[in-house]
Amino acid sequence: MRSRDVRPNDARDAAAKPARSLLPNSFSHIIMYAMDPSGQNGKPARPSSREIVAATAPTPAHLLPKNGRPLDGVRVVLAPLCGFTDAVFRRICLDRGADLVVTEMISSDGFVRNSRQIRALHYLDMSDGPLALQIFGADPEAMGETAAILSELRPRFIDLNFGCPVRKIVNQNGGSAVLKDLRLLETICRRVVERSRVPVSVKIRSGWDKSTAENVTEIARVIEASGVSMIAIHARTKTQAFKEKADWPLIRTVKEAVSIPVVGNGDVTDAESYRRMVEMTGCDAVMIGRAAIGNPWIFGEVRAAIEGRGFAAPVPRERVTSLLAHVRLNVENDGEPLGLITARRAMAAYLKHVPNAKDVRSRIMTCTRVAELEEVLGEFLSRAGGRGAAGSPDGGAYRGGLSLS
Ligand SMILES: Cc1cc2nc3c(=O)[nH]c(=O)nc-3n(C[C@H](O)[C@H](O)[C@H](O)COP(=O)(O)O)c2cc1C
Repeated sequence: MRSRDVRPNDARDAAAKPARSLLPNSFSHIIMYAMDPSGQNGKPARPSSREIVAATAPTPAHLLPKNGRPLDGVRVVLAPLCGFTDAVFRRICLDRGADLVVTEMISSDGFVRNSRQIRALHYLDMSDGPLALQIFGADPEAMGETAAILSELRPRFIDLNFGCPVRKIVNQNGGSAVLKDLRLLETICRRVVERSRVPVSVKIRSGWDKSTAENVTEIARVIEASGVSMIAIHARTKTQAFKEKADWPLIRTVKEAVSIPVVGNGDVTDAESYRRMVEMTGCDAVMIGRAAIGNPWIFGEVRAAIEGRGFAAPVPRERVTSLLAHVRLNVENDGEPLGLITARRAMAAYLKHVPNAKDVRSRIMTCTRVAELEEVLGEFLSRAGGRGAAGSPDGGAYRGGLSLS
């Protein structure tokens, strides 16, 4: 059985629940799932982490790296983004030109407890394209055990998250807190490398704060000496969070300090910034996060630049149609209304790139049926199509209606 068949909750159960349309997506998602995690009240239990792994077919041979070098041919990577890089969005980004995608972080503590709450594993399909599975935690044994089991699925890498700045994670010594304790960092890396059946990568920030950032060379060397195959670096410290500009020269420093491949990350927003990062840092590949949210076309733009082709940015109508396609895929997995509720942040993100969409953005936040969403979006396009008559600033880019098939 493929994992796609292992539904966390039957769509009918979700449909029976009241829509909590005004809640932010993450809360409503948690509430909808948390209502019956253990399958009481006659509802099917959500599968546990290990059940999901057991039901998932490993990466097919044609997607494994031909020469054994797992980053070979990889130039642009979708960053792990908690709450965004779910199975649907990962597939869309691969279709649009990403060479490799990464799941959001998986708690190794939760995994070894065989939790039913690990969102990153929902609808896992290793045949979608090159995929890395990211794990986090501070217990080397739990990290090793998680890597051992997940690596049976033959992901491109098992990626260790040593960059997350979120308080709940760092308070348990996970994420970027590991950067403060080189001995722990080394122990985790060695244990995971020992247990994993596939190469291990590490994603770091440049340090905990500016003072530990001076240490980044040492951090990178310890990672390399522990047998890790690749480093991805988001060139900001934990204390910087997302403030100030990413410190790209620091990526070059890491690149020069180690001989394993280095993936640069932070503030790449288009083909031009991709080109500048590669030029300035010499990194082997670039990882793109926030700029892909609502704009998976960024991978096509970068790919076109790599191949020396032109790139036509999508017109607003195409963005709206793709938003709808994204939601339909979500509904295929989660049913109505859950599939719409869990896609709300993604929907809002698509519309950020569409002019005059403020009103429609708030209207779609309350849609609980695909038919309702189609109606709201169709209306928006026909109104905007009227505005977009010949000679108008959008040049008629809204016209053409909404494909409902
Ligand atoms: C909403 C959000 C969720 C994120 N979740 C993760 C995560 O699960 N694991 C991780 O290593 N980094 C995570 N990150 C950090 C990104 O992977 C990336 O390093 C960061 O956004 C910088 O890259 P960018 O400038 O291209 O966005 C997250 C960032 C954002 C904005």
